[in-house]
Formats: sequence, structure tokens, C-alpha cells
Amino acid sequence: AAQIEDGPFAAIDVNMGCPVPKIVNNGEGSALMKDIKLAEKILTSMVKAVKKPVTVKFRKGFNDQCLNAVEFAKMAESSGAAWVAVHGRTREQYYSGTADWEVIRQVKEAVKIPVIGNGDIFHAQDAARMMQETGCDGVMVARGAKGNPWIFREIRQYLETGEIPPRPSTEEIREMILRHGRMLSEYKGENVAMREMRSHMAWYTKGMKHSASLRCEINQVETLEGLAALLDGCMV
Ligand SMILES: Cc1cc2nc3c(=O)[nH]c(=O)nc-3n(C[C@H](O)[C@H](O)[C@H](O)COP(=O)(O)O)c2cc1C
Repeated sequence: AAQIEDGPFAAIDVNMGCPVPKIVNNGEGSALMKDIKLAEKILTSMVKAVKKPVTVKFRKGFNDQCLNAVEFAKMAESSGAAWVAVHGRTREQYYSGTADWEVIRQVKEAVKIPVIGNGDIFHAQDAARMMQETGCDGVMVARGAKGNPWIFREIRQYLETGEIPPRPSTEEIREMILRHGRMLSEYKGENVAMREMRSHMAWYTKGMKHSASLRCEINQVETLEGLAALLDGCMV
């Protein structure tokens, strides 16, 4: 944490909720929910090592036999975490079934630091409902943002005014795909970026008129220029 602290970010978040076997089998991610003492040691030493806020994300528990989100949150608070984010599923559930928001409410009741609720927010109304039902201080969106970065402005406006802004126009979607492709290229190189854009393209264009043919044609695209040409030809 100390090595990366000067980077362009506001806080250091430790992911103690990751369910991936490679991570869990190594005792990391959500496996740390089974070893609360070790999790505590990691957090306290991180908090001591850096000035930026250290935060932690975890799940409802590891499995049905280990449902310890409340205890874990209290440990995080006493270790100096600035806030916690809770995903209302166990590791065993992975991403299946529905997220249990009741556990988010219990965590919120148990600690004084801010609690971010996470799990199954796909529309602005879901965010409002989660905040209302759990009392959480903020929400975290994951899958609901795939191909839909507009969900953030929709949530914000809905919470502030009770109204949801109009869905993005085709032109706005097109510009966002290009911007996404450009930024991803800067980050990962054009080649990898264009391959990764295949999935994003499918998410961005879900339900649109030309989405099936676009999904097919994106597979041939290898450059940003090609991506722009494809969008020019199909969507406007
Ligand atoms: C493909 C995928 C990758 C994820 N990667 C991360 C990650 O790197 N770090 C993290 O904290 N959570 C990660 N998550 C978990 C999400 O942040 C979130 O907790 C989970 O998807 C539940 O929220 P949702 O219902 O809004 O998707 C990932 C989820 C998915 C589906």
C-alpha cells in the first residue's frame, strides 16, 4: 500500500470479497473472511503504513456456515478502515441468486463508519430502494454498469430529484464506445483493447437494431480507426 500510495486515487480498497478459485485457494479475497485475525492484521498494518483512507470490500460471509459480515465490519472499523463495502452474497453463491440486502442493513446498524451497499443494482430505482431498505450511505454498482455508464448519472439524478434522465441517444452511445475504446487502448494497447471491446460492444448495443451484425463485425476490428468506421457505418 505504501508503495502505491502516491498514485492518482483517493483511497486504497482491499478486496476481501473476491470469489475466484485462484485467489481463494491462495487464502486471499473472500478466503480472508474465514481468517478474521489475518484480515485484521492486514488492515491494521495497511492503515498504519499509509495516509490515504484504507477501505475494505467483503461479502455476506464465506458460505452458509460462515455468515460473519457484521463481525467482519466491526473488525474493519476497529482496524481503522475509513468505510466498508458489503456485497450481499456469500463466496459460495458467487454471483448467483439475489443479493441479500438485509445483511447490509445489519452491517449499517453495527458500525459508525460509512457503509456502501453492493449487489443487484441495475436501475436507478434499485439504488434508491437499497438506500431506503438498508440505510446504507452509498451504493456500489458493478454489472449494472456494463455497457451502461449512464447508470451513475441516472442514480444521482433520481436520488436528487426523483426523476430519471432520458436514456442516451444513439449518437451518445457511439461516442461513448469510441471514448471507451480510446481509453482502453491507452491503458492496454490497441490490440488487447480492441479484443476486449468485443464484449463491451455487445453490452452497449444490447437491444439495438443492428446489435447482432455489430457483434459479428466487431470481431474483425483490430484498430481504433476500424472501430470508428464500423460505428459510422452501422449506427448513425
Ligand atoms: C466479471 C467481474 C469482475 C469483478 N472484479 C472485481 C474486482 O476486481 N474487484 C472487486 O472488488 N469486485 C469485483 N467484482 C465484484 C463486483 O464489484 C460486485 O461486488 C459484484 O458484481 C456484485 O455487484 P453487482 O450485483 O452490482 O454486479 C467483479 C464482478 C464481476 C462480475
